[in-house]
Amino acid sequence: MNQLTIEQALDLLAAGEPVVIPTETVYGLAANIFIDQAIEKVYALKQRPFHNPLIVHIGRMEDLDIVAREIPPIARRLAEKFWPGPLTLVLPKQPGISNKITAGGDSVAVRMPKHPVALALLQLANFPLAAPSANPFNYLSPTTSDDVRRIFPQLQDRILEGGPCQSGIESTVLGFDAGKVYLYRHGAISKEELEFFLGEEIGVKNKETKQLTSPGMLAKHYSPHTPLYTGSNITLMIDEQLSKHQKIGILSFSKAYINPNIAKNIVLSPTGNLEEAAQGFFAALHRLDELGLDLILAELFPEQGIGAALNDRLKRAAAP
Ligand code: TXA
Ligand code: MG
Repeated sequence: MNQLTIEQALDLLAAGEPVVIPTETVYGLAANIFIDQAIEKVYALKQRPFHNPLIVHIGRMEDLDIVAREIPPIARRLAEKFWPGPLTLVLPKQPGISNKITAGGDSVAVRMPKHPVALALLQLANFPLAAPSANPFNYLSPTTSDDVRRIFPQLQDRILEGGPCQSGIESTVLGFDAGKVYLYRHGAISKEELEFFLGEEIGVKNKETKQLTSPGMLAKHYSPHTPLYTGSNITLMIDEQLSKHQKIGILSFSKAYINPNIAKNIVLSPTGNLEEAAQGFFAALHRLDELGLDLILAELFPEQGIGAALNDRLKRAAAP
């Protein structure tokens, strides 16, 4: 199979065609931010509602000012520290940024990805790229090109290969309000790491807040087709569920669950390393979802560091 080259990807993007790109977090479905029809194609492919805005990806610090305005000093400090990397900043948008990208709002989400292929592409292009994760709306994000091919067969020849994604979980999304920093979505950079850098606590804007700040805070998200339950006591959950279901699969953090009635158990990190668990997280859920199971039982992670982001994904996957 012929692989798409960076030059071919650039030509397609310049012509208003979406291209799947690797990033260090998950694969993205990218479009030229200056072509509205290209953005519309991304929403159509994902069947994503238009009220859910997209992240703009840039390849150079100067491009930040093309995308956003009135950038608070604290946002610049965060960008200088964590870019290129899995941190997304929500800022007031420049007038040239399409309402299609911002869902009609006045703010735009922006990040500089770290993956060398994505960076090379962005540095060669003379336009930033809007890119949501390359999955149908509400489904599991893909962290390998094979998973993209399986969920988007129509995009076979539109995938820029980048190997398995290194972080395996989406970027952390931050917003700013009156000089304060707010967490809009847990992600690959932990809240603790950001707070350590800032020297202050970060507020969380979540679904308890009356106004829906970021659709990443929607309850149901990141779900496999197979029903999924999540909890801390897997042994108890197995006992409860075995009489009701024939084929049960288990996603566990570090422990193996040996039980002859369990169809499959994927252990993410036998040594209990949260980074390793995050790396394999979505791929493991894709594998379990392919098995035609009646139920997936997923073990909650320690609620620390990137574990909080993984738990957030699991709770949304399990939401009714
Ligand atoms: O790691 C990532 O961020 C990946 C890779 C491809 O870069 N992208 C990604 O995009 O996860 P997506 O579309 O699946 O998630 C974007 C998140 C959503 O939670 C969305 O609500 C939030 O960013 N977002 C985007 N624009 C926003 C805005 N203007 N205000 C608030 N939240 C915004
Ligand atoms: Mg997504």
